[in-house]
Amino acid sequence: MSNEIALTGIKPSGTPHIGNYLGMISPALELAKEFKAMYFIADYHALTTVRASNDLKQLSYDVAAAWLALGLDPDKVIFYRQSDIPEVMELTWILACFTSKGLLNRAHAYKAEVDENISKGLSSDEGINSGLFFYPALMAADILLFDTNFVPVGLDQKQHIEISRDIAQAINNNYGEVLILPEAVIREDVKTIPGLDGRKMSKSYDNVIPMFAPSNTLRKRVMRIVTDSRRPEEPKDPETDNVFAIYKHFAQPGDIERVRQGYLQGGMAYSQIKNELYELLEDKFTEPRQRYEELMQDWGYLDQVLLQGAEKARKTSIPKISQVRKAIGID
Ligand code: TRP
Repeated sequence: MSNEIALTGIKPSGTPHIGNYLGMISPALELAKEFKAMYFIADYHALTTVRASNDLKQLSYDVAAAWLALGLDPDKVIFYRQSDIPEVMELTWILACFTSKGLLNRAHAYKAEVDENISKGLSSDEGINSGLFFYPALMAADILLFDTNFVPVGLDQKQHIEISRDIAQAINNNYGEVLILPEAVIREDVKTIPGLDGRKMSKSYDNVIPMFAPSNTLRKRVMRIVTDSRRPEEPKDPETDNVFAIYKHFAQPGDIERVRQGYLQGGMAYSQIKNELYELLEDKFTEPRQRYEELMQDWGYLDQVLLQGAEKARKTSIPKISQVRKAIGID
């Protein structure tokens, strides 16, 4: 086990689905076996979009419960809520003073909103809050505060990690080696998990397969995955089929090969592989689903776990912020 830090933030934006599981949760749990892992709930990031206080609360507990249910061990991973670490906010401001505005202008999430306004003939910053604009600086603070070496994220977050490096470099250029430059870890093979309609699985497309839905909902969702209209006896292409693209992440190697051959040679019906996929998901998620439901009945326990995590995290963040304050001449 290495002493290097792997850190990632989870934005509480809905109960995780199997796309999140494959793209983020499962690789993060694997990485935790190798590195000192720090995983946190990025509730202040969610505030850029979630405006109902009850929703923000509910969503945060929801993600915490999901990760614990799926096997995160809080004795091995430092698991906390961003908002329980006040040093994050302090560092955000310091970093903002070293972040060129042009860098943030070019950040994808902000730029996409600006472009959309322009395409609608609105003024460029219509309806955009400054929190969205500063989002990458807050994220840099999350990362740099803990001397993070590796940041496991999806491809959509790659630019944010590059921005964090740029900011760290700007600080170091001015004050010497104060901050560590983090590296993004992007898992290539699960970059995009298709959703029911074949587009990337995402809550915003309403095409997800939820992990903790009741069995009948899960079955219905799997049956709705879009395929072409080839009949059972016809050969099919495993490389382009949406069901196979999900199946191959859950099945055993021998079964994957059997199904691949069935596709190529014909004789494998889409309904048959959908049934197999449903069974695999049911098998994999029945226990976590129960555990998730229990945890969602006990927010007190979730608070206790997250506060203990914050206490451990602050053993690093408190000395780090003093080091930074000293470096800038405020101490
Ligand atoms: N922006 C990330 C997302 O949308 C969440 C996040 C916040 C994060 N802070 C982070 C990820 C720090 C990695 C490191 O998913």
